[in-house]
Amino acid sequence: MTMTARTILTCLFVSAAALLPVVASVRTFAAGDDDHSATAEKQLREMTLDEKIGQMTQVDLKALKDLGDIAKYSLGSILCGGNSDPDDITAAGWAKAQDDCQGQALKTRLKIPLLFGVDAVHGHNNVDGAVIFPHNIGLGASRDPAVVEKAARITAREMIGTGIRWTFAPCVAVARNERWGRTYESFGERPELAAELGPAAVRGLQGDSLAAAESVLACVKHYVGDGGTTDGQDQGNTECDEKTLRQIHLPGYVAAIKQGAASIMPSYSSWNGKKLHGHKYLLTDLLKGELGFDGFLISDWAAIDQLGPDYKADIEQSINAGLDMVMIPNGPDKPNNYVEFVTKLKELVNEGKVPMSRIDDAVRRILKVKAKMNLADRRFSDPGLKAKVGSAEHREVARDCVRKTLVLLKNEKKVLPLSKSIKKLVVAGPAADDIGIQCGGWTIPWQGATGNVIHGGTTVLAALKEALGPGVEIVHSPDGSGATGADAAVVVIGERPYAEMFGDRRGDKDLSLPAEDLAALKKVREAGVPVATVVFSGRPVLLDPVIASSDAILAAWLPGTEGRGIADVLLGDYKPTAKLPHTWPLGMAQIPCNNEYNADVVLFRFGFGLTY
Ligand code: GLC
Repeated sequence: MTMTARTILTCLFVSAAALLPVVASVRTFAAGDDDHSATAEKQLREMTLDEKIGQMTQVDLKALKDLGDIAKYSLGSILCGGNSDPDDITAAGWAKAQDDCQGQALKTRLKIPLLFGVDAVHGHNNVDGAVIFPHNIGLGASRDPAVVEKAARITAREMIGTGIRWTFAPCVAVARNERWGRTYESFGERPELAAELGPAAVRGLQGDSLAAAESVLACVKHYVGDGGTTDGQDQGNTECDEKTLRQIHLPGYVAAIKQGAASIMPSYSSWNGKKLHGHKYLLTDLLKGELGFDGFLISDWAAIDQLGPDYKADIEQSINAGLDMVMIPNGPDKPNNYVEFVTKLKELVNEGKVPMSRIDDAVRRILKVKAKMNLADRRFSDPGLKAKVGSAEHREVARDCVRKTLVLLKNEKKVLPLSKSIKKLVVAGPAADDIGIQCGGWTIPWQGATGNVIHGGTTVLAALKEALGPGVEIVHSPDGSGATGADAAVVVIGERPYAEMFGDRRGDKDLSLPAEDLAALKKVREAGVPVATVVFSGRPVLLDPVIASSDAILAAWLPGTEGRGIADVLLGDYKPTAKLPHTWPLGMAQIPCNNEYNADVVLFRFGFGLTY
């Protein structure tokens, strides 16, 4: 056999062998994906330009001039932003609002189902009576992907009970400066927390298949570097080289994409002065190209409006940069509204400034996700799961999550765990019986609220009364008075609720706890009884006055509605296991202080946490 023939044969053999795994993987890969792609392609071929642009348009429910505009503009998505709740915020009220919108989509020519999105970021937190889980910072302290997955799974179940199958979560920010008001939405200061817990949240939300009965669509956010802005300014500027951006802020996305996350939200923030929402290299070349993200990108709330003063130019820049769907909170009575958006985007296509290929790519991505979700057959609320919203079963899961998020920072004289045969216990502090402070921001209203903001939860006071029973005298003292003679005191203090930029503490604003809370703690200390202090906060706060007046300190973050989990730890039914997800600075002058071990900078190290 001549050399040539042998070479040819060898090449054929090698190439066939080399192809085999590829063919096999393509075949395996194509089995499910091909069907969804075929569905998307078929729909795309039938669509007019107006219908395609409609699919790329997400409108806030409160901005709709008329519910009929869903059909009129063939809208692809509706959201209820932080404060856009329907009038009836019970599960039944939310289910009706969602189902009514889906009914409008059924009036369109192609009857493509709507994606209805909300921020269910720590439970279905817009629904009265829902179970509210610990915010991400507490889940980060748990270091437990199973806890994160369970919380997300229950959240998904409660969402589907209201017909809502898209949440703008998980946030995989890596918060590097505690002055940032969104620190609590991050799992912690290190990328490995985002990379491990972000995918766990995606697993809990999306399950093994987006089409499964209890799966919802996740939306990983805010891409990329939202937690790394200078001075922790919300929507600010992340100034770093690409190597740092990739090392610190990208791992959460790499892992979440690998887990199958099917939507991603860009950040309001900028990287070295260029807004993410108009950043073609990061949105298209890196995310969709290098990382192979095949889902779709949804903008943040009116975020494209920040690109520049001219709305049409904003649309052109953001869509050409790789944005696939635009979140529009403005109705026809305001500028930059959804009617303007569809009109101007159509003009841009007809003027050749936005290529039809870009429109088709965006719509194909959206349609493919809807096909993967089998959304056409899952448009409406699930009565069975609606009945489970806020169920005791769900609350028990959340209680277990809470236990695993609590970090014991101090425990002198073994004040904790409290004895159950105690005779008189004082439960003091403004946050001892305040479910709103206990839950924090993104709970019913966008900013959260003090007081009884949500029904069905259990405050620390109520949980301790339930656990200790009628044989123990429990004195509730919000201001800390009357503690003399008690066997011990639990003082519950904390940051008041906030969200996003309203939580920024920049310039001369600091991370002190409210004076009212510190005064209550001091009053209890002066009564000379053993003091265990529970701190609700969305981040490390200034702790000196707390340390001075407490024998024991439990960092509880923003644990949500299930205060029983806190009582379980206070009474020793669960030994604290959580570890700090942030380096705890000595003071404001030491912020930012990530990965620091120097004792004259750091009060408690990243990873610190005591147990019994
Ligand atoms: C907000 C937030 C984003 C949220 C969106 C919709 O401004 O930045 O996290 O998902 O708007 O409420």
